[in-house]
This record gives sequence, C-alpha cells and structure tokens, in this order.
Amino acid sequence: ILRPPRPRPLAGKRVLITAGPTHEPIDPVRYIANRSSGKQGFAIAAAAQAAGADVTLVSGPVELRDPAGVTVIRVESARDMLHKVEAALPADIAIFAAAVADWRVANEGEQKLKKTAAGMPPLQLVENPDILATISKLKEKRPPLVIGFAAETEHLIDNAKAKIARKGCDWIVANDVSPASGVMGGDRNTVHLLTREGADKIGVDSINVESWPVMTKEQVATELVAKI
Ligand code: CTP
Ligand code: CA
Repeated sequence: ILRPPRPRPLAGKRVLITAGPTHEPIDPVRYIANRSSGKQGFAIAAAAQAAGADVTLVSGPVELRDPAGVTVIRVESARDMLHKVEAALPADIAIFAAAVADWRVANEGEQKLKKTAAGMPPLQLVENPDILATISKLKEKRPPLVIGFAAETEHLIDNAKAKIARKGCDWIVANDVSPASGVMGGDRNTVHLLTREGADKIGVDSINVESWPVMTKEQVATELVAKI
C-alpha cells in the first residue's frame, strides 16, 4: 500500500530542547529541586521529531522514557544542563522548557549532614546560571529562534512580557501554575504564546500575545511545532 509521505516541515532543522527539573545537591543524599514532570518538554521533542527535525533533548531527572528518534542527554544540575546545552550547539531552534532550579547550595556537604544538638545546618544559596539568557545572548552561536517558558502563579502576562525582554529570547510560552489552575504535574496546560514582533524590538509594547484554549501537553507541543 502506498501512503502519502508524512509532511516533514522541520526536515533538516536541528532542534535543541531542555526539559524537567534540575537537582542541586545539598549533600550526597539530599537535593533542592523544582516541581516538574518533564512532560511538556518531552512532548515538544516528540512533536519536533515527528515533524522531521533532528532533535536533542537535554533533560533533568524525570521518570519518562526517551522519545523515539530523539537524542536524549540526561543531566542532574543546572550547571550540567548548561554545559550539555552549549555542547549541543549549533541549533536552528532552541526551546527551554526545563524548570531549572534558580539556586544551588554553595556549601555542599561532602558527607551526609547529620542531625546534631547544634541545630539545623545553615544552607548558603548561590544563583545558578540562566541557561535561556546565556544562549539568547550568544553572538555567533545564537540559534535563530530561541523560545523560553514562563511558569507563573500571578500576573502571568506582565511577568512573561518582562521575561522575554530581560532574557532576550524571541518567544515565550507562558503558563499559569497557580495551585488553583491544577496544572502542576498534570496532562493539560493552558498557555499563552508571546512573540516579539521585529527582530530588533525588545520593548514590552512590541510583544504579541496569543491565548490558546486548554489543551493536552501533546496538543500544546503540536501547536507550538506548527507555529515554528
Ligand atoms: N531558565 C533557564 N535557566 C535558569 C532559569 C530559568 O534556562 N537558571 C529558563 C526556563 O527554562 C524558562 C525560562 O528561563 O524557559 C523562564 O524560567 P522562569 O523560572 O520562569 O524564570 P526566572 O528568570 O528564573 O524567573 P523567576 O523564577 O524569578 O520567575
Ligand atoms: Ca526560575
């Protein structure tokens, strides 16, 4: 039987995606992390692969199987993730769906911290590198299309607009993760696609907002890939 070939609009394009949380060690047995299932990033990787792209997925610790046909690189910390992302360049499109831990512990214990009469261990936090901002601000190796995510619990659009300008990316997929929205860890997402209009414009006034109806994470992935 002859079937018409599946359309492969991203054939020949290299797509780099981050997904999942990062784990920042406190000591050999404990870590700081964000809540993230990795489902949205994995769904985007699968959708981009189905569209014909050559996909590299750099993922923090998640309990998801590798999407077929995708190069998956598993990492733990934000710094590992940044290094693997840099090593995976160049790319035509980069999509940063990971929930990167903003801070790591500066005084990481070499041995397991023990409970003592002296009280709780003081944890000193330092800021992690911002992977999205780092890649958005590259000169030669900046992917032509850089897409970030913004998970917010309040002032969703305003915060996302500020983020697109601050980070220097081209698009942001903003989603409401307030407890009332019920999306954390689930299979659905309500997102808004913010796009910067005009390559040189980074003012918040030149940002277009498109609000999508509630969809499964797979549908969000398919729609995003269609936009790309
Ligand atoms: N991001 C990243 N590296 C970081 C922090 C965030 O690559 N160290 C990326 C995320 O993958 C996402 C985007 O930046 O695509 C926005 O992440 P978010 O946590 O919403 O933004 P922050 O700048 O960390 O701001 P805040 O958490 O204070 O809202
Ligand atoms: Ca953050």
